[in-house]
This record gives sequence, structure tokens and C-alpha cells, in this order.
Amino acid sequence: MPGPTIVCVSANPAMDRRLRMASLAVGEINRAQRAQGLAGGKAAHVATAARALEAKPVWVGFLGGAIGQECARQMESLGIQVVAIPTRSGTRVNLEIIDAAGRVTEILEPGAEPSAQERNEFLQACVRGLRDEWKCAVLVISGSLPAGLGSDFYVALIQAARAAGARVLVDTSGEALRASSNARPYFVKINRAEAEVLLGRALTTIEEVARAAAEIVERGVRSAAITLGRDGLVWLERKGGPVWKAKPPHVNVVSAVGSGDATLGGFAYSAAQGIVGEEALRLAVACGAANCVASAPGRIELATVRALLPQIEIERLTL
Ligand SMILES: Nc1ncnc2c1ncn2[C@@H]1O[C@H](COP(=O)(O)OP(=O)(O)OP(=O)(O)O)[C@@H](O)[C@H]1O
Ligand SMILES: [Mg+2]
Repeated sequence: MPGPTIVCVSANPAMDRRLRMASLAVGEINRAQRAQGLAGGKAAHVATAARALEAKPVWVGFLGGAIGQECARQMESLGIQVVAIPTRSGTRVNLEIIDAAGRVTEILEPGAEPSAQERNEFLQACVRGLRDEWKCAVLVISGSLPAGLGSDFYVALIQAARAAGARVLVDTSGEALRASSNARPYFVKINRAEAEVLLGRALTTIEEVARAAAEIVERGVRSAAITLGRDGLVWLERKGGPVWKAKPPHVNVVSAVGSGDATLGGFAYSAAQGIVGEEALRLAVACGAANCVASAPGRIELATVRALLPQIEIERLTL
């Protein structure tokens, strides 16, 4: 059976340049030992992780200039279908600096402003694709919006996908998250810090995190997961349903960047395949942990995911 179609939208893609250096000194000249450029943005990580699970990912994104072309080329070489919405402004470059102690410093460009016409082309490409080509797809919205694009862009995408019968999974932050979580998407996956900003309070205990997931579901989101880094995640699968807590085993972390995206790739795969409950949870958490030992964000290995599946500790919480 061919894998499910998972449409990953990227409003603000980037070429991620990973620099390795002994140490980083602010205000000094720093020399990198190695440099690598990888097509990035959170949606690219989700698509890459979904590909490793043998899904059929489609990546839709604004792309401009030579950097945009290189992003498309890299993703196609990973077996990801690319729908590029050409932009006049060039695709941004983000820096990820890893020092000898494994500390990661990220410097993110804001992203150039797409024109009103480019914005509409993006929405139309999604509407057409969901109507004609990507039957039974799930649509994943990940990451930030570029300058000049308001959160109504995500709201319009969620509404268009719903009208086409597609379920929408969302992972974003700030105002874009607030607006999206009020637009009744199928699933919201955020980390603890993003949930704290959304709800305006600290989420310290597991009970507080579980209640936060319940509040997100109260807004009309079908299912909500809040990730907790190495402590795993809390998932309220549906209103009135079980609250799950899952913890990954210890892994020798190369970089945890993109672990939330790989987790979302796992959840998207399950949503598209009709996998629910403990099995869906195990897969998502195994994808997140597999990402920590991957060569780059999202580049998980199916064999690693499979080896981790039985090692995930799962609990059912009572609120
Ligand atoms: N150090 C770790 N060891 C094992 N698993 C981890 C570790 N860090 C993260 N994970 C797994 O990945 C999931 C997502 O991690 P995290 O909460 O850091 O997401 P995030 O902040 O959204 O990450 P990103 O936005 O970079 O993708 C966690 O729920 C956990 O299962
Ligand atoms: Mg995240």
C-alpha cells in the first residue's frame, strides 16, 4: 500500500547553515571547523521525518532565488514532492552554531515579506492540491510566519483544508498559535514554553501541563500534545478521552533541534493512517527521540524508530 500523503506547509522556509566550532565568542572573530547547508524550516523537518516513515510527503513553500532553488533540490533528492510558490525575495539563511560542548546557538532571519499575490498563489496551490491530487491528505502547518504575513494566513489555510475535508495539524507559536488554535484545527502540538505563552501562565507540574492540553481542546481543537524535551510529552487525544504521558528512553543526543518536528511527523503519519491511542503515541515519541540521534533535524532512521518503540514508557493520567 502506498504511504499516506502528508502535506507540509512552510510559510517561512530557510536554508539552515550548521556551523561547528570549538567555542563561540560574542564580539570576536569566530572560525568554524565545518559548515553544512540543509534545506530547513520546521515543515521540511516534518516532511523528512514523514518520508522516513514511508509516507508520501508534499512540501509547499515560498521559495526565492538561488537559495530557494537549492532548498527545493535537496528536498526532492530526499523523495519529497516540492510545490514551490516563487517569491521575488530570496529564501532566508538561518545559522545553527554548535560548539564543542554541544551547545546550540541559533540565529534566525525574519524571512522576507511575500507579496499579496504570492500569498494568494500559496493558498490556491493548497486548495487545488487538496481538491484534485492529495486525496485523504492531512495538512501540517509548522513554524513561524514571515514578516508581513498575518496569522489570518494560517486561519485561511485551516479553513480551506477543512472545506476540502483534510485534517490540519498545527505547530507554531505566539500570535499565529493563538489564532490557529481558535480556528478549530484537528491537532495542536506545541512545546511547554509555547503553551505557557498561549495560556499566560507557568506550566510546572504534569497536572498543569495536562490541564493546559485540556484547555486547548476546549477551544475546539480535536487533540492536543505538549512536548517536554527529554521528559517526553503529554497528549490529550480527544475531549473526554484519556490523557497520556509518554517518556522516551535515554539517548546519546547529537542535537535535539527538530525533535518536536519529528514528533509531529509521527503524529501526522498516525492521523493519516488511522492509527490511534497508545500506538500513535509510541510512534510520535520514538520519532522525537530518533531525531536526537539523527545526522540532521528530521533525518530520522526508520530502524532507529522501530528500535525505540518498545522503550517508550507510557502512562494514563487521571486529571
Ligand atoms: N534529550 C532528549 N532525549 C530523548 N527524547 C527527546 C529529547 N529531547 C526531545 N525529545 C523527544 O522529542 C520530543 C519533542 O522535543 P521538544 O519538547 O524539545 O520539542 P520542540 O521544543 O518543539 O523542538 P523543535 O521545535 O526544535 O522541533 C519530546 O517530546 C521527546 O519525546
Ligand atoms: Mg517545536
